[in-house]
Amino acid sequence: MKVNDEIIADIEKVVNTGSAIARVDGCVVFVENGCPQDQVKIKITNVNKNYAKGEITEIIIPSKYRTKPLCPMQKVCGSCQLQFIDYKYQLEIKKQITQEAISHIAGLDIPVKDTLASPEIYNYRHKIQYPISQTKNSGRILAGYYKPKSHEIVNIKYCPIQPEICDKIIDFVRSRCFDYGIQGYNEKKHSGDLRHVAIRNSAYTGKNLVTLVVNATKSFDRLEDFAKALYNEFDEISGVCINFNSKKTNVILGKKTQCIIGEDHIEEKILDKIFKISTDTFFQINPKSAENIFAYVKEYIKTNHKSPLVLDAYAGITSFGICISDICEKVVSVEENKESCDLAKEVAQNNKINNLEINNMDAAEFFKKEKRKFDVVILDPPRKGCSEESLDEAYRLTQKDIIYVSCNPATLARDLKYLKDKGCKIESIQPVDMFCHTYHVENIAIIHK
Ligand SMILES: C[S@@+](CC[C@H](N)C(=O)[O-])C[C@H]1O[C@@H](n2cnc3c(N)ncnc32)[C@H](O)[C@@H]1O
Repeated sequence: MKVNDEIIADIEKVVNTGSAIARVDGCVVFVENGCPQDQVKIKITNVNKNYAKGEITEIIIPSKYRTKPLCPMQKVCGSCQLQFIDYKYQLEIKKQITQEAISHIAGLDIPVKDTLASPEIYNYRHKIQYPISQTKNSGRILAGYYKPKSHEIVNIKYCPIQPEICDKIIDFVRSRCFDYGIQGYNEKKHSGDLRHVAIRNSAYTGKNLVTLVVNATKSFDRLEDFAKALYNEFDEISGVCINFNSKKTNVILGKKTQCIIGEDHIEEKILDKIFKISTDTFFQINPKSAENIFAYVKEYIKTNHKSPLVLDAYAGITSFGICISDICEKVVSVEENKESCDLAKEVAQNNKINNLEINNMDAAEFFKKEKRKFDVVILDPPRKGCSEESLDEAYRLTQKDIIYVSCNPATLARDLKYLKDKGCKIESIQPVDMFCHTYHVENIAIIHK
């Protein structure tokens, strides 16, 4: 096989990067926008020792799982890799991705459960962060997502996975910021004003917190006037903030945020608890689906433990701890981000929760110094998973169960194997769809010590 060869092949499956694969004479060929059971013509673009890459140039026989994507930009925008696949089959793909990680990476013989669907498959995304730029010739403002593997912005006027109001707010920013002398950011030259528009939308109240991320170290009048105009334009906006990020970096938010008008947070309801979410708070982007995860974990603990002592590690704003507090004797949480811990304390107080102990520190360090034993340890680490040292310590602190919530099947599989080798029994693995139309999948693993 060589570059520019044209081959006809059947798409076999979608893998954990969202690419599809076909097999030609035993060689794996990766393509984008392929659906299992398509017969396609592929032009080879890259050949390596163990695999090749290609582009689909023709769909000869379309798979029965293909569907018309709601978004006209699906192929050019990098966000919804699977939107052209029937939703039920997307759930099956996510189960397969998890199963493959569990079987191949971890070598574990555990059947993965059917993926729990998201209650909403459109308008589900309640956190939006659009990069902003400005065209060279016409000076037009662009706002949208990056094209896959590039920093070229796809100008998105309609995005079916986010609430409609977000499109309207972004349209206002795009069309009116010029009136206030605010320029779009030029990434190459590190010049211009507006780098990103970030919106937190509440599924509970419908209100929006809008944050203008600017290439500046302090506020200026034109910016504040624009923030006020934005606030006055929409009843659905509860507050407008400015975040200062003058660094040459891919990190979206700078350290300092200033509220210009209205409130600096929105409220979200999960189960029967009210949460406060600010510009930089880590909170699940699909609150309805997150609610399913919290309910699942709560139900498991309620059924299997009586008034347990629970450790909520990598806690964010202690969402697990707060949601399960009423069935626990006490919940102890650990989280490294100070703002999240401060917010958690406030949320606990507002919800009249008195059995929560919040520790603002590195999880591994906390584990090492901790003497108590916990009936249940909840681990919800970032994508990179847990270190072996943290798993050793979490194991030591666990009396009975570890509940591992993961957004990365590969690191989950690695960590489950490590725990199994220490003697744990992996009871079940439940995939949950939090990011519809993307290849991302969340999993809840129940582990007995
Ligand atoms: C996937 S989020 C989970 C948040 C929370 N459980 C939730 O559902 O909202 C992971 C959290 O781990 C925190 N984190 C990352 N590394 C950490 C560490 N070494 N020690 C403590 N917390 C950490 C991050 O700040 C983030 O809030």
